[in-house]
Amino acid sequence: MKFSHIALLCSGGDSPGMNCAIRAVVRTAIYHGIQVTGIKRGYAGLLRGEFQNMSLSSVGNIIQRGGTILQTSRCPEFMKETFRKKAVDILKAQGIEALVVIGGDGSFNGAKALWDEHQFPVIGIPGTIDNDISNTEYTIGFDTAVQTAIEAVDRIRDTAHSHARTFLVEVMGRNSSAIALKVGVCTGAENVLLPHEKVNHQKLVDDIQRGIARGKDSSIIIVAEGPVAGRSYEIQQVLKDMYHMDTHVVILGHIQRGGSPSSNDRFISSQMGNMAVEALIAGDYPKVTVVQNGKVLLNDLANCTTKSDHNFSEYQKLAQTLSI
Ligand code: ADP
Ligand code: F6P
Repeated sequence: MKFSHIALLCSGGDSPGMNCAIRAVVRTAIYHGIQVTGIKRGYAGLLRGEFQNMSLSSVGNIIQRGGTILQTSRCPEFMKETFRKKAVDILKAQGIEALVVIGGDGSFNGAKALWDEHQFPVIGIPGTIDNDISNTEYTIGFDTAVQTAIEAVDRIRDTAHSHARTFLVEVMGRNSSAIALKVGVCTGAENVLLPHEKVNHQKLVDDIQRGIARGKDSSIIIVAEGPVAGRSYEIQQVLKDMYHMDTHVVILGHIQRGGSPSSNDRFISSQMGNMAVEALIAGDYPKVTVVQNGKVLLNDLANCTTKSDHNFSEYQKLAQTLSI
C-alpha cells in the first residue's frame, strides 16, 4: 500500500539525535509525496489529539539540537487496550495511515500493541541513551551521552588529581551497564560498578589503596545508577563507616540526556529515519530500524520489545587491568 499520510512521535526518555531522526522521517516522506503529522508529547499527546503538520522547513535548523522538538512523555493510560483503541480511532479520523515511533523498548511495546490489536502499520526507531534494546547494537543518543559523561569525568579527574581524592561518579543506566562500561574504559577509571552488581566494598578499598601505594594521586570509580539513582551515597557511607575512607560523590544525572548530538548519532538517526519511511512505502512493517554488524537495517518489531543489557563485563576487567 502506498501511504499518503503518516505520523510520528517520540516516547519515553529523550535522547540526543531524536531531532535528526524526526528531520529524516519528515524530509523522506515529503520527498515521496507523503503528508506527515507530528504528534506532540508521545502517546499522551496522541490521546489528546496534539497534532501539527510537518513541512520541510518545520524540521530546518534542528539537526544540531538535543532533545526533541516534538517533546516526549510517559503515558500510563497507553498500557490499557481501551486507550489504544481510542488512539487508533483518533489517528484514522485524521486520515493517518501509519505511525513512526521513536523511543525505547517500552514505546515499542505500545507500537506493537497497535499492530497486534488493530493492524495499524507501525515502524520503530530506537532512541534512548541507554543502548539497551534487544536485537540492535545501537540506540540513538548513546554516543553523545557517553561523550558528555567522559568530558565531565575528565574535569573531575583534574581536581581529583590536584587534591589526591577518590571520586564515585554515578552515570545513567537504570538497567543498563552500557554507559558505565564505555565511560569507565575511556576515562581510565579504577573501577566500574554495574547496575545490579552487589558491591564488594573490600575489593574496592583494596584496589584504591593499592593504587595509592604505587603513587596514584586520584581514583575514579564509575557507578551505574541502577534501579534507584543516588546509590553512590550508600557506597560512600559504607567506605567511610567500615574502612575510614573518604570519597566524593558526583551524580552526572540528566546532563547526559541533553546536548548537541555527535556525528555518529546524527548519521545513524538520519539513516534510520530515512529507512523507516522507505520500509513503510515498501510495505515492510511492523519493523524497527536497527544496527547489526555495524549496518543500519530492519528487524521485526517483535524482536525489539525487550531490554537487552549489552553487559560486556569484560570491559569492567579491562578498565581495572589498564588502571592497575
Ligand atoms: P522507553 O520507551 O524509553 O523504554 P518507557 O518504558 O517509559 O520508555 O515507555 C514509554 C511509554 O510507552 C510508556 O509510558 C507507555 O505509554 C508506553 N508503553 C510502555 N510499555 C507498554 C506496554 N507494555 N504496552 C503499551 N504501551 C506501553
Ligand atoms: O533515558 C534512559 C534513562 O536515562 C535511564 O538511564 C534513567 O534511569 C532514566 O532515563 C531516568 O529518566 P527520567 O528521569 O526521565 O525518569
